[in-house]
Amino acid sequence: MRVPLIAGNWKMNTNVTEAVKLVGEIRPLIEPISNVEKVVCTPFVSLTAVREMLKGGSVKLGAQNMYFEEKGAYTGEVSPLMLSGLCEYVILGHSERRQCFNETNEIINKKIRAALKVGLKPILCVGESLAQYEAGKTEAVVTDHVTSSLKDIPASDNLVIAYEPVWAIGTGKAATGPQANKVIRLVRKIVAGLYGDSFARNLRILYGGSVTGDNIAEFVGQSEIDGALVGGASLKVDQFVSIVKQTAQAKK
Ligand code: 13P
Repeated sequence: MRVPLIAGNWKMNTNVTEAVKLVGEIRPLIEPISNVEKVVCTPFVSLTAVREMLKGGSVKLGAQNMYFEEKGAYTGEVSPLMLSGLCEYVILGHSERRQCFNETNEIINKKIRAALKVGLKPILCVGESLAQYEAGKTEAVVTDHVTSSLKDIPASDNLVIAYEPVWAIGTGKAATGPQANKVIRLVRKIVAGLYGDSFARNLRILYGGSVTGDNIAEFVGQSEIDGALVGGASLKVDQFVSIVKQTAQAKK
């Protein structure tokens, strides 16, 4: 029913030459794998070059951020209009944006609205910090992230959500499959409250945080988890290919 999705978040890694090389190696290996949507989210500066390489194939392209205004005096920012037509997806509300660049739910809400307006597919990231996790606040934080980020935004089939517990990002300490499944079930319930059961049933919700070829099966083997947002392992050809392959296998 829900087509699984594996998205690589390259973060601030690779220059244009390296990005072209990496996608040149990954693409032929994942291109033939069907039954799973494959996305690479490269740095802005590589989008054009990588887009050329992906043309006519099944691997999709995404950005990692954008500003919410369409144009104007915002030095250094990239707008939704600049991305539309260039890539299909855009990661929004990543915890690194929240932490390092002070992005609030309110800003993320504006970004999601702006992305949807121009036909981009937002991958909205939500998730609790280590301190919040240890204080037993996971449900409260995730509920707040989802409801505030989507406040007054009409339902859109283009939306994807990723649950990324901050304590699992880049730490090598992934959540367990059942742990992630439980939070993702909650996210689906919150979304059902906002947009109705049928919308929530069709919404793809990913897990992110230290996903590798060694643990992906544990996540995509869960009923609520529709794929993964992969950081570090998306820069390693064999790892990323293995993640895509195992997802296709698990969701057959
Ligand atoms: P890692 O897979 O490196 O833990 O990063 C996860 C992430 O933040 C993906 O957006």
